[in-house]
Amino acid sequence: MVRDVENNLDQIHQQALNELEGAESSREIEDISIRYLGRKGILTQFLRNISKLPAEQRPAAGKKANEIKNVLDKTLKAAAEKLVSPDNAKDTKIDVSLPGRVFARGTLHPITQVNQEMCDIFSSLGFDIGEGPEVESDWYNFEALNFPKDHPARDMQDTFFVSDDIVLRTHTSPFQIRTMEKRPPPVRIITPGKVYRCDSDLTHTPMFHQVEGLLVDENISFSDLKGILTAFFHQMFDEQTSLRFRPSFFPFTEPSAEVDILCVMCRGQGCRVCSHTGWLEILGSGMVHPALYENVGYDADRYTGFAFGMGVERIAMLKYGIDDIRRFFENDMRFLSQF
Ligand code: DAH
Repeated sequence: MVRDVENNLDQIHQQALNELEGAESSREIEDISIRYLGRKGILTQFLRNISKLPAEQRPAAGKKANEIKNVLDKTLKAAAEKLVSPDNAKDTKIDVSLPGRVFARGTLHPITQVNQEMCDIFSSLGFDIGEGPEVESDWYNFEALNFPKDHPARDMQDTFFVSDDIVLRTHTSPFQIRTMEKRPPPVRIITPGKVYRCDSDLTHTPMFHQVEGLLVDENISFSDLKGILTAFFHQMFDEQTSLRFRPSFFPFTEPSAEVDILCVMCRGQGCRVCSHTGWLEILGSGMVHPALYENVGYDADRYTGFAFGMGVERIAMLKYGIDDIRRFFENDMRFLSQF
């Protein structure tokens, strides 16, 4: 008779363990726990009914039932802890066939991209790349570039003054002086960088980017300038991009020229972008003024050279068909993510 009771208890235990094996969520484990160990659970009922057993069977049956109750309780708790996510372990099974999450990846700013492209093209034409300071002395920004004090040409650029003698550079041309001071000829160098002018509208921002070029050697003539710039624009836009040189004035070049390119939008037909002229003003250039050679100690009788400076935003606007320069600096992701 005791045997029967014990067998019965073993069966209950085994049945509980079988059910646990099929359980996949903590909810199911909890159900098993209630079914066996709860107030009206199978084991609980069993313990309650022990008093109905013959007296001599009660101690052994009670002991065995309590042992199984404790073991089962521990087993169920351990199984529940093993499940990472409580109620829906079924859903947390990993589906390895699902596609991975796509992470948003940044891109280089369009100005950085165009800047790099310009540097690459000039590198391929044999130019070195250098950089100068954005806070400049009056000497480098003006005086050494042949802008005497009170010369009206200083008004061409609305200067941000740091102090009487220190400015935010208004152009990258000071780098011409800094380079020639340090290196004897021949020099063939460009410098990309930020420049500052007190100006803001559809085509001007207080900070913008320029690329400046300088080439000095024996027997350099205006036709070399023409050749280099033509090669550059053919690569930057395409081979149909013809150039037009217009006489101009800059204190640091003589002769000076402003360069137009055939409108890249309408190919010279005339459109809104080129104000119906068919041409786009794109850069300033000229033959290095002998006064600069004197300022840096170059032999002006032996060497000649050319210089040019152009705006990066202007070129980026033409390349991408952008009509408001301020877009570059508003950091609007809808705009930037197109590049
Ligand atoms: N520095 C001039 C400007 O910002 C552009 C320029 C003109 C640069 C003629 C040059 C040059 O090197 O030769 O307006």
